[in-house]
Amino acid sequence: MKIGFFDSGLGGLFLLKKVVKVLPQYDYVFLADLKRSPYGNRSPQVIYDFTRESVDYLLKNDCQLVVVACNTASALALRKLQQEYLPIKYPGRRILGVVVPTIEEVLEYKISRLGILATRATVGSRVYIKEIKKLDPKIKIFQQAAPLLVPLIENNGLRWAEPILRAYLAPLINKKVEAIILGCTHYSVLKKMVQKIVGPKVKVISQDEIIPEKLADYLVKHREIAEKISQAGKIIFETTDLAPDFCQTAKKWFGQKIKLKKAAY
Ligand code: DGL
Repeated sequence: MKIGFFDSGLGGLFLLKKVVKVLPQYDYVFLADLKRSPYGNRSPQVIYDFTRESVDYLLKNDCQLVVVACNTASALALRKLQQEYLPIKYPGRRILGVVVPTIEEVLEYKISRLGILATRATVGSRVYIKEIKKLDPKIKIFQQAAPLLVPLIENNGLRWAEPILRAYLAPLINKKVEAIILGCTHYSVLKKMVQKIVGPKVKVISQDEIIPEKLADYLVKHREIAEKISQAGKIIFETTDLAPDFCQTAKKWFGQKIKLKKAAY
């Protein structure tokens, strides 16, 4: 069996690249729902439906564990999938998200003013606020939606990102946050630009520096899951649509040329 790795778009490949560096032995299937991405500006019900179909595809295709490497999908679908869908349809399998492991890490920094930069749907779900407040009710949290960033990243548009990013970050800078969570897996590719804009005193928290180690820890703690995952070091890359530009974008974010296969569901 394999590890499924799901993101709405190809930006998730940047995180997968880091995961594979830490856990190169396992077999993976990466899935991007390019036919319907980005998810971040859609309604909660549609995000849930798309995520369920995508996760279902991975579970049907022999994944023991699915990492929902998308904050939007984690925020709007993960809990319901874990509680209501998985135990009935795929008992014994696992679905993990990226929000809670990020929060666990951030709380270790003892920050009192925290900014969250995320998609519109993630901000609207208030998932970061709800989960953080459960563990640390005193922390002040300020959210900022950044709806234009994922389309720019997916369309090789980083050269236009800086003024947009400055506008999104200004309200968080004005609130004097001590750290900013890049609460979308795509935003990791912008972390240097974010750091330049916010200055050295603000900590920029990027999931590509958190999730690989958290996943490795999870697999150490859950030997019964890890033992079921095959170890030939192979990765299959699938997308729900194949357009000529996708291969180039995939190469950019994964760091090497890869072959994309069409996922049919
Ligand atoms: N990488 C996804 C996330 O973390 C992108 C969301 C989208 O499709 O807009 O939120």
